[in-house]
Amino acid sequence: MAGRNKITVVGAGNVGATAAHWIASKELADVVLVDIVEGVPQGKSLDLAQSAPIDGFDVKLVGSNGYEETAESDVVIITAGIPRKPGMSRDDLLKTNSDIVGSVTDQIAKHSPDAVLIIVSNPLDAMAQVAFKRSGFPKNRVIGMAGVLDSARMRCFLAEALDVSVENVTAFVLGGHGDTMVPLPRYSTCAGIPVTELLPAEQIDAIVDRTANGGAEIVGLLKTGSAFYAPSLGAVEMAESILKDKKKILPCAVYLEGEYGINNLFVGVPCKLGKNGVEQIIEISLTSDERAALQKSAGAVQELVNVMGI
Ligand code: NAI
Ligand code: 2OP
Repeated sequence: MAGRNKITVVGAGNVGATAAHWIASKELADVVLVDIVEGVPQGKSLDLAQSAPIDGFDVKLVGSNGYEETAESDVVIITAGIPRKPGMSRDDLLKTNSDIVGSVTDQIAKHSPDAVLIIVSNPLDAMAQVAFKRSGFPKNRVIGMAGVLDSARMRCFLAEALDVSVENVTAFVLGGHGDTMVPLPRYSTCAGIPVTELLPAEQIDAIVDRTANGGAEIVGLLKTGSAFYAPSLGAVEMAESILKDKKKILPCAVYLEGEYGINNLFVGVPCKLGKNGVEQIIEISLTSDERAALQKSAGAVQELVNVMGI
């Protein structure tokens, strides 16, 4: 009988530890939680393991400050880095987090050469580019998580405005994970009906704006860190689609080679996720305004990549 799948989560902070929690409670895989701070990944794993008898899940949870235990992981979620503080942009994180993500990727590529990498660390699209270059993995096995979060935020706001179940609402967000992201109301629906037919334009504009600033809204409230419940669950939804070969279509940051007119850059677009990682990039038709907004967003990602010189 095949054993359970194995997911390594690097970074045992807010996003990483909460991802481990979701993975365990869904019984999705055994979890190895890694962090540089001694005791923290071990303590959080032990605490989570002790919740298993109450919740009733059977997965193995291990905490570590090294990578031996991570060997042959099926999926690796990278959340290591420093989060945004109030007044700090995602781009300010560029230098620190690119060094961290680069060194983590070296270790992961060595110990789990066949894994699918899901990057969460910010600035997201640039960090996915770092992981792609440093791992040498094929492009289908390096994926950035942002669109699942951004579209979940939009779905949440739309459901509230429409006074309907969140399950009725789909939303579409393209582009880089930053203020230039491109929420697409035209492709967002409630029970199959485009939301543009259900809500006045001003209300939709306000929701689009709130979505694009969704991360900053939470940073402003928390003051000591950034969002983690929805971000961690976004990464876990992607891992689940891969491990169960569900072939869900999800907005993900992936390496584009000509799709949407974008070349050699990680940018968020709709993708099919299955056992091979990214199995298809879906190209939808865009109006000239939408295409221009996507190009602008890709330009913002390209600037960061240029600064990093990769
Ligand atoms: P956090 O500060 O709670 O946790 C980060 C953890 O990474 C810390 O425990 C730290 O010790 C660890 N770490 C630092 N360097 C490391 C290394 N070299 N190896 C292993 N672990 C290392 O931060 P949080 O809230 O968990 O956020 C993590 C990252 O995810 C941040 O960069 C944040 O901006 C990003 N983020 C991205 C989102 C997205 O949509 N893509 C959404 C939310 C957060
Ligand atoms: C967010 O969107 C900080 O990128 C993070 O919440």
